[in-house]
Amino acid sequence: MLQVSGLSTVYPTTRGDVQAVRGVDLTLREGDVLAIVGESGCGKSATLLSIMRLVPYPGRVVAGSVVFEGRDLMSLGPREMREVRGRDIAMVFQDPMTTLNPAFRVGDQIAESLRVHGFLPGFPASLTRRSRMREREMVIDLMRQVGIPSPETRHLEYPHQFSGGMQQRILIAIALACKPKILLADEPTTALDVTIQAQVLDLMREINQTTGTAIVLVTHDLAVAAEFCREVAVMYAGQIVEQGPIDAVLEDPMHPYTQGLLRSIPRLGERKPLTPIMGEVPDLAALGPGCSFAPRCEVRRPCCDISQPELVTLEGHRLVRCHVRGGNASGRPGAGHRATGDQ
Ligand SMILES: Nc1ncnc2c1ncn2[C@@H]1O[C@H](COP(=O)(O)OP(=O)(O)OP(=O)(O)O)[C@@H](O)[C@H]1O
Ligand SMILES: [Mg+2]
Repeated sequence: MLQVSGLSTVYPTTRGDVQAVRGVDLTLREGDVLAIVGESGCGKSATLLSIMRLVPYPGRVVAGSVVFEGRDLMSLGPREMREVRGRDIAMVFQDPMTTLNPAFRVGDQIAESLRVHGFLPGFPASLTRRSRMREREMVIDLMRQVGIPSPETRHLEYPHQFSGGMQQRILIAIALACKPKILLADEPTTALDVTIQAQVLDLMREINQTTGTAIVLVTHDLAVAAEFCREVAVMYAGQIVEQGPIDAVLEDPMHPYTQGLLRSIPRLGERKPLTPIMGEVPDLAALGPGCSFAPRCEVRRPCCDISQPELVTLEGHRLVRCHVRGGNASGRPGAGHRATGDQ
C-alpha cells in the first residue's frame, strides 16, 4: 500500500545542512502495525512529516519516493496532496497542545475534518438544518469512539477544558474522521500517564483490527513498541539501523545500538545493573564518512570509520546496518546480502 524508498530530508541551518532523514525505506501493507523507535533527534518526526510532505520550511525532502497505491506522493500538486492527507493518510502530531486550535470548540475542529474531505452531504453548497444535525451526530459518534465521556455536551467545549490525554484522543478522532487507510502517529502517548497511555494504545489497536487501517507508531519507548507492534524499525542518526519482527529484535538484537538500547531499559524480574550507551548522539550537520554509530560502538572495527554500512537482510526477515554484524567485517561471515532498494 505504501512504499517509501530512499527518503532523505535536510534542514538547512547556519551550521550547515542537518541531515534529519538519510535514505529511509519502509513498506506498509494493509493492516500492518509498524513501530519506529529511536532516541530524541534521530529523525522519527522528520520521517513522518516527509511522508506527508509537511516538512516545515526551510527543511525539504531532497531525495526518495513515497508511493501510495501506485502514485508517487512527491510528484503530486498541492491540491492532490491535500486530498491524500486526511482521507488516505492521516497523522497524529507529537504535541496536541500546539495542534488543536485553542479558539475553536473541539466539535467544530472534528467537523472541519469531515467537511474538508467531503464526508458531509451537501457541504459547502448548503448547510441545511438536516446536514447540521447529521454533522453533530457524526462528531459525537467519533468522540464516543475515542472514549470521551459525555460527548453530547463536551463537543461544545474548548481544548483547554480537556486534559492532555483527552486532547490526544480528540486528535485521534480528527485523524480518524475520514477513515484513513494509514495512520501515522507521532508519539501519541508520550505526554500521557500509564493508564491513559494504555487506553489510547487499545483504541488504536481496535481501529487497526476493525478497519484494517495500517499504523506507523513513532515512540522512544521500546516497551510501548513491544506491546503494540508486530514489526519494529530502529532509527539512529536519520537512518534505519535495524528492522524486523518485534519479538525477534527484542530477543536477539543484532545492531550494537539496539543492543545498547535494550541494556539501558529495566526489565521486570532482572537484577542486572542498567548500562547506558556511552558517548553522544552525532551532530547531523557534520557527519563523517563512516558508520554514524561508530564513535559509541563497542564492536567497532577500522572499516567502520571509513565507509557507511548498508542495510542488509539476515535470516530472511531481519535487516541490519552494521559492518560487523551485517557480515562484511567477519561478525557473521557471509550472512548478509544487500537489502533491495537501499542506497
Ligand atoms: N525546523 C528544524 N530546523 C532545523 N533542524 C531541525 C528542525 N526540525 C528538526 N530538526 C533536526 O532534525 C533532526 C531530526 O529531528 P526530529 O524532530 O525528526 O527528531 P525526533 O526523532 O522526532 O525526536 P523527538 O523524539 O525528540 O521527537 C534533529 O537533529 C533536529 O534537531
Ligand atoms: Mg519527534
